[in-house]
Amino acid sequence: MTDKLIPLKIAGVGYSLPETVITNDDLTKLYETSDEWIYTRTGIKERRVVSGNQNAADLGLDAAKKALEKAKINPEDIDLIISASSAPPKLYPAIACLIHKGLGISKPVPAFDITAACSGLIYGLSIAKGYIASGMYKNILIVATDNNSRLVDWTDRSTSILFGDGAGAMVVTQSDDGVDDVIAIDIKADGNYGELIELHLDGQNCPLVEQYEPQKQVIKMNGRGVYTFVAKILPHYVEELISNAGLKAEDIDYLIPHQANIRIIQAVQERLGYSDDKVVTNIKYYGNTSAASIPIALAESVEKGNVKLGTTALMCGFGAGMTWGGAIVRLREGIC
Ligand code: ACO
Repeated sequence: MTDKLIPLKIAGVGYSLPETVITNDDLTKLYETSDEWIYTRTGIKERRVVSGNQNAADLGLDAAKKALEKAKINPEDIDLIISASSAPPKLYPAIACLIHKGLGISKPVPAFDITAACSGLIYGLSIAKGYIASGMYKNILIVATDNNSRLVDWTDRSTSILFGDGAGAMVVTQSDDGVDDVIAIDIKADGNYGELIELHLDGQNCPLVEQYEPQKQVIKMNGRGVYTFVAKILPHYVEELISNAGLKAEDIDYLIPHQANIRIIQAVQERLGYSDDKVVTNIKYYGNTSAASIPIALAESVEKGNVKLGTTALMCGFGAGMTWGGAIVRLREGIC
């Protein structure tokens, strides 16, 4: 531990997507809907889903390996693994523990999961920042991964159209040049709005007590309610995050938002006065991949050259809880 706060470096990012593509037209085989209805209301044309035994831990491991490679960090040098997921294959062992094993790390290191739904990457980065700043850990792996396709109700056309599977990972380390890549970060939650998106974990009562009526274990969402809540808070929140950092919207090069609904993204974009080339969107191809959506958008846009490095970006997300958060970060050369 040290008295001086240690700056954080974003050293590498990576992402992973399952191969199977489900288009809006495919969904018409499940229920009455249309590509036109889905696309105009959400901006989604297709999403990726896992098949066979593949799950969020597998996708997360793949993304983690890519991020570590970019960061040029040996898995053995990782001091802490944080995984953000709301669609894990099991409640325990934590995905972070599965990734510890999958990376073949021989020494025990702390590894835990957080549940902040689609705000997971921002929450994970915020936790990592505290640990790096305090000097407690030097190299931290953050994995945000979700396997929504196993948890949505495929008979519910208002939720199952939205979600897809995927993973993103970020390696953060102590910065050795004095520059902190996290210019500003903030996380929030308001549990009073928790009923807007819920996933009930079912079980059974002790047979010696009154029986309990099991519920369907699927994502339940009040889509209209989520939309109204987020459209009301997010644009203002993002604006405040920028001004609290002593910056103006034009000081930031890119907006990398959670990919939940193109209309929500456009509302934030309009508030910041950004042109389309400053806003990263891939919702058309992947739908809402929950916690993974921001790191996938970041890593893929850098990989494709749509986001240049040596720049700054504002990442923002919201999700079940309700949780939300934002971070203004520096994107160094070589992260992807
Ligand atoms: N195809 C055709 N019709 C449909 C479909 C569909 N897939 N889904 C719903 N409808 C119908 C409804 O039955 C309803 O018909 P009715 O008027 O006859 O009753 C009508 O369309 C309107 O339904 P709404 O649910 O009110 O539609 P809305 O315009 O609100 O769009 C949507 C729904 C797309 C889900 C929108 O509310 C939305 O995107 N909300 C935000 C969701 C979100 O961002 N979630 C984030 C989750 S983050 C996390 O943490 C997991």
